[in-house]
Amino acid sequence: MHQRILLTGINGQVGHALNQRLAKAAMFSLGLIALDRSRLDLTNHDQLRQAIKHFKPDVIINPAAYTAVDKAESESELAYAINADAPRVLAEEAVKVGARLIHFSTDYVYAGTKQSPYTEEDETAPLSIYGKSKLAGEEAILTSGASHLIFRTSWVYGVYGNNFLKTILRLAKERDSLRIVADQVGAPTSSQSIADAILQVLVQITDKNVESKSGVYHLVNAGETSWHGFATAIVEEYSKLQAEQGWGMLKVTPASIQQITTAEYPTPAVRPANSRLDCSKLASDFSIRLPEWREALVMELQQLTA
Ligand SMILES: NC(=O)c1ccc[n+]([C@@H]2O[C@H](COP(=O)([O-])OP(=O)(O)OC[C@H]3O[C@@H](n4cnc5c(N)ncnc54)[C@H](OP(=O)(O)O)[C@@H]3O)[C@@H](O)[C@H]2O)c1
Repeated sequence: MHQRILLTGINGQVGHALNQRLAKAAMFSLGLIALDRSRLDLTNHDQLRQAIKHFKPDVIINPAAYTAVDKAESESELAYAINADAPRVLAEEAVKVGARLIHFSTDYVYAGTKQSPYTEEDETAPLSIYGKSKLAGEEAILTSGASHLIFRTSWVYGVYGNNFLKTILRLAKERDSLRIVADQVGAPTSSQSIADAILQVLVQITDKNVESKSGVYHLVNAGETSWHGFATAIVEEYSKLQAEQGWGMLKVTPASIQQITTAEYPTPAVRPANSRLDCSKLASDFSIRLPEWREALVMELQQLTA
């Protein structure tokens, strides 16, 4: 019997990567029900409840979210509807059909004042509406009684979707120099790395001999950098690949990327200065270790031409 997996938000970065990965995995492809917003709208509770009742999935994977961090400051109601109310409904319905819920959350649930990487046991204290709405979604799942795995990730980017990688490449072709925030540290995490890890998790939780686990896990690429470090690496790695691939030249060089402070780049939403997430729990419970962020970046850049 094939595992039935209901996947939401397949036009998002993580949703798209997961859809591609699962569609290629013989073990999961046949039972995959992959839906975009037009077929499953997270603000429509009746539709959510009907879909779960109808498909009776073994696993619900929910990468769909309200992710416009700055806009959320003025669209709090919508952010909460998608990031908190919808996960609550998914979790309630998961309980009814005995499904497991795999959900995603964020480094923005932390205040970022800790001097070392955050562990899952550390206190949460989100600074933004987005972070608060995501934390409310986590709490709703925890209290629902649903079997769940919540993966907090950070700084997601990839070939598909709009993200920092794409923005830097575009700007680096248009401008001679860039000014990038250097006092926020974290781990850029590729959507492919997330999808690979979730596939491994699915294989493990599908194995009936493996004890069922519920809980919150950090899931980010290994290592750390700042946004400035990430932008510099994008330009460096792109330039290395440029000659072999015959890609268009960048105007920006690594040396022309200036470091600025968060204070010099004010945004409506306040972001944590320290977004580093300790992934030891993922390693000890699932034996999963994500690649170094720079290695993942090179893989993502190579995919750009594939
Ligand atoms: N992006 C990051 O840097 C980051 C960092 C930390 C954690 N996360 C978390 O990781 C997860 C995946 O993020 P991502 O980067 O893949 O996000 P994303 O690229 O912004 O994709 C979000 C997806 O959610 C869908 N969506 C929004 N409202 C919806 C609704 N009402 N009904 C159904 N679908 C809806 C969007 O649909 P449309 O395509 O139709 O707009 C989009 O496809 C999220 O839980 C996010 O909070 C992301």
